[in-house]
Amino acid sequence: MKLILLLIFSNLFITFGYKPVFLMHGIMTGSISMEIIKGRIEEKHPGTIVYNTDRFGGWSSLESMWYQVQQIGNDLMNITKQHPEGIHLLGYSQGALLARTILQTFTDHNVHNFISLSGPQAGQYGTNFLHLIFPDLALKSAFELFYSRVGQHTSVGNYWNDPYHQTLYLEYSQYLPYVNNELKSNKSDDFKKGIVKLNKMILIGGPDDNVITPWESSQFGYYGANETVINLIDRDIYKEDLIGLKTLDDDGKLKIVTVPGVDHFMWHLNVSIVDNYILPFLD
Ligand SMILES: *[C@@H]1O[C@H](CO)[C@@H](O)[C@H](O)[C@H]1NC(C)=O
Ligand SMILES: *[C@@H]1O[C@H](CO)[C@@H](O)[C@H](O)[C@H]1NC(C)=O
Ligand SMILES: *[C@@H]1O[C@H](CO)[C@@H](O)[C@H](O)[C@H]1NC(C)=O
Ligand SMILES: *[C@@H]1O[C@H](CO)[C@@H](O)[C@H](O)[C@H]1NC(C)=O
Repeated sequence: MKLILLLIFSNLFITFGYKPVFLMHGIMTGSISMEIIKGRIEEKHPGTIVYNTDRFGGWSSLESMWYQVQQIGNDLMNITKQHPEGIHLLGYSQGALLARTILQTFTDHNVHNFISLSGPQAGQYGTNFLHLIFPDLALKSAFELFYSRVGQHTSVGNYWNDPYHQTLYLEYSQYLPYVNNELKSNKSDDFKKGIVKLNKMILIGGPDDNVITPWESSQFGYYGANETVINLIDRDIYKEDLIGLKTLDDDGKLKIVTVPGVDHFMWHLNVSIVDNYILPFLD
């Protein structure tokens, strides 16, 4: 009798268990950097299948955003075909922006919840981590490199958002102004469609990040004139519902999570972050 019950329950568990999770690492690292999150999910949610992509590790993480979106997006679509019940998607840092764009580009996706862990969703205007890659780069003149044909071949150039050079940003950037629907294209409708079908979007970030600049970019806030930060709900992307964030919010599907005391290079290594802010959304 006990054995039969056990069999029934384990069967139910397989049928109604946790959805698979796809993890996308950050810039200049690889899948290894996401092993703590993977391990914790498997420990706390036994039976979860976790895909931890090793695409674009190390220097190749600097390849253009669109190229990475296409390659990783193809993998993700393959995986979703094997899981018609849906999957969850989590990206860290640059990986969070890549992951979000995959949702907007592969609109047939069946991603249920999307978790953005400290990603530069509204762009980046800070050189803290960039000195590892471009040692002599100065904040004020970085635009000269990034807003050029050559600069647009790098991922960072694609989401560099200099508040003092918005005209050049809109003219040269091949990526961020489009995926945020600041500039319209024949993809604009898709860019919204892929977002509004989510069950939940969770945007995690915090004031002690020290890399994502301004840190509010992790929650779609950004600099207005004179480096004054404007929060998401006061920006056009929200007010005009350019990519569906307001739609999600109106339906209670947008979760903004602010956690103080976490440095950028700790978000994905801090088990308490996984327990408190990630696992509750991986059902
Ligand atoms: C994805 O699926 C296609 C077609 O089924 C296959 O050719 C390709 O190798 C798959 N790619 C990966 C990364 O699994
Ligand atoms: C969308 O625009 C791009 C670039 O302007 C063009 O190459 C493409 O053919 C267009 N696609 C459709 C479906 O109109
Ligand atoms: C930005 O600051 C400058 C100098 O303080 C000032 O002249 C300008 O009016 C400010 N612009 C805005 C939009 O606040
Ligand atoms: C880990 O995350 C918690 C919040 O869950 C935070 O209070 C703590 O400061 C973090 N620790 C580190 C070392 O980042």
